[in-house]
Amino acid sequence: MRTMEEYRALVEKALQNALPQKNGFSDVLYDACAYSLYASGKRLRPCLVLAAAEYMGVPVSEAMPYALAIEMIHTFSLIHDDLPAMDNDVLRRGKPTNHVVYGEAMAILAGDGLLTYAFEYMLQGAAKYPEHAQAHLRAIYAIASAAGLSGMGAGQSADVDYEKHGAAGKNKEALLSYIHENKTAAMIRGALLAGIELGDPDDKTRAAFAAYGKNMGIAFQIADDILDATSTTEEMGKTVGKDEAEGKLTYVALYGLDEARVHLENLTRDAITAIEPVDRKHYFASLAQALLTRKN
Ligand code: IPE
Ligand code: IPE
Ligand code: MG
Ligand code: MG
Ligand code: MG
Repeated sequence: MRTMEEYRALVEKALQNALPQKNGFSDVLYDACAYSLYASGKRLRPCLVLAAAEYMGVPVSEAMPYALAIEMIHTFSLIHDDLPAMDNDVLRRGKPTNHVVYGEAMAILAGDGLLTYAFEYMLQGAAKYPEHAQAHLRAIYAIASAAGLSGMGAGQSADVDYEKHGAAGKNKEALLSYIHENKTAAMIRGALLAGIELGDPDDKTRAAFAAYGKNMGIAFQIADDILDATSTTEEMGKTVGKDEAEGKLTYVALYGLDEARVHLENLTRDAITAIEPVDRKHYFASLAQALLTRKN
């Protein structure tokens, strides 16, 4: 296994050739997709796919389509999350948001395009390994279920619904957990599960990575909530202070900064405990630890 920096460099290189060629007719769609996909993201989810796959003994080359696909889906989620109808943001990854540059219609199409193309891309990858077809199907399932109606899409809907209609009689603590578990943790857990499913995991390994990913993913979103309240727009590459202004349901809004930090530490500890049964527990524990103190 390699460091996250090494995985990130591999992802950046492979991403450069991931989109289809321009054809002279829909080039603006290509440009809109490339604009957001090639902007400087942390590439956390694709690096997790590669680390989990290599942990299972699967080569980077076999896992890379899944790493790139999850980054395409994540980028779609950011483009749509920033739209005026959702969080209405003008800065992302240090640059004007997709709809500010290309207009709303093209930003919607770029998001739709990246989401759908991610599946085309994974299926092309799977087709190269007919002898591992079952494993590749399981990896595609892990990513599909993380992104869709029982994952990130559902979490995003609960997030925007709260902003418009409040908790509407629901328990706020439970609703907040649901939002974070789905809008953010699902894709982080899904990245890890896609990586291990490319190998031949036993149930103990599956359960360990699922619990690790879920706890680390909720912690990741709590850190995002805390940074929204405490960091700067320059450091984050996106406008901070908006959660409070827009009345978002976040850990900071519900519990205050100090208690949000306690939740962040507890969930990080839970993630580290969950991964203890696996062989490379120190590698994965230090990864969760690094996210605890992330600055952007
Ligand atoms: C942003 O994700 C959306 C959240 C789930 C908080 P990242 O913080 O991973 O954003 P990039 O990919 O580095 O831009
Ligand atoms: C969004 O959460 C998570 C996504 C699925 C995109 P946020 O709305 O808090 O993410 P940022 O702060 O805009 O990156
Ligand atoms: Mg949002
Ligand atoms: Mg947002
Ligand atoms: Mg945020």
